[in-house]
Amino acid sequence: MSTLMDAAFAARENAHAPFSNFKVGAALETTDGRIFTGCNVENASYGLTVCAERVALWKAISEGAREFKRIAVVTGAHSLTPPCGACRQLLWEFCGAIDVEMGNLDGARETINMKELLPRAFDTQNLV
Ligand code: THU
Repeated sequence: MSTLMDAAFAARENAHAPFSNFKVGAALETTDGRIFTGCNVENASYGLTVCAERVALWKAISEGAREFKRIAVVTGAHSLTPPCGACRQLLWEFCGAIDVEMGNLDGARETINMKELLPRAFDTQNLV
């Protein structure tokens, strides 16, 4: 198991998911090898919930990181969990065509690129 996925599994332990009981961990790696982790944080006002990927991304951005290599996303679900639509948009805008490494507690692993997860994305190129 990669170090990045280990970090995502460790972050998942901190998930605050009392409403869905669906715990997610993420670990985002910068091109210079730093790792920023995140877990999902739910709220009684459900719409305020923040996904694990976004927590990792906001931590990284707020610490000054701007260049990213890959992200690991892990859950306990039998089918591997790709980032939700909102997270895909944000990952594309901040990280571009990075690999997304998905894993679960059964040991299943799959890597997919953001280009495949969000084809023909809307981004700053569309604003000109
Ligand atoms: N969730 C994530 O953190 N990341 C994903 O990729 C999918 C969904 C969270 C949001 C919510 O807390 C729970 O999983 C169920 O949707």
